[in-house]
Amino acid sequence: MKGDFDSKLLSRVDKNKLPRHVAIIMDGNGRWASIRGLLRSAGHTAGVKTLKKILTLAVNLELEALTVYAFSTENWKRPHAEVDFLMHLFSEYIEREKMEMHENNVRIKFIGRLEEFSAGIRKQIFDATELMKNNSGVKFNIAANYGGQDEIVRAAQSLAEKISAGKIFPQEITSEVFENELDTKNQPPVDLLIRTGGDFRISNFLLWQSAYAEFWFTKTNFPEFSQEEFIDALVDFGNRERKFGALNENKK
Ligand code: FPP
Repeated sequence: MKGDFDSKLLSRVDKNKLPRHVAIIMDGNGRWASIRGLLRSAGHTAGVKTLKKILTLAVNLELEALTVYAFSTENWKRPHAEVDFLMHLFSEYIEREKMEMHENNVRIKFIGRLEEFSAGIRKQIFDATELMKNNSGVKFNIAANYGGQDEIVRAAQSLAEKISAGKIFPQEITSEVFENELDTKNQPPVDLLIRTGGDFRISNFLLWQSAYAEFWFTKTNFPEFSQEEFIDALVDFGNRERKFGALNENKK
């Protein structure tokens, strides 16, 4: 994983202008496959290969956090065969990749309603997370059975329970206290949100964390999303002016 890229790519980015947290909606696997007369599952398999290339760059660029949308709370509505295939792919991916990720100091975390996965996958998730829990490199979050609204509701429920147990007063709830209940607690907010596949939607992904994110959309279907295009997005991010709701100093 460490050296698996063209080193010229890294020279295109200014390390001081990198996002701390990049999130990716990996869309377009199905379309990539149908255009080629392949089954949708082939698109997901190809997507996993792309994901590895992107994680490799994230490791080498020393990004602080990378979060990818692998399975939404709505994805259960897809045909059984596709859901089963995705589950099989997760399981295979974790087993195949976890040692290499660990050797590259990656800290994996799964975010979402994990209790709805099979016991087998939950065990794999637990083991991979334990293996990497003390690593200090890229925080690699895989959103699985994840929905942004669902995450916010779970946080609200947890705070309500703390209030009814007398552990906290309602007026003590601040944005920081709320953030501590989210799946991404102790991680920086999303700076750059990338969506492949040509749609311009957030699709219930990291709603709270993306409050001030910069968006970057591409028509490229995820299996064809290259390391070059990922760098394009990072370079573009570096050239943007971020205001976080304030006036720009030079334009006052
Ligand atoms: C969206 O493409 C993609 C998904 C619902 C799943 C994303 C999964 C992967 C990239 C691979 C599995 C990930 C891991 C972590 C092992 P789509 O099927 O909605 O494409 P379409 O919009 O063209 O139909």
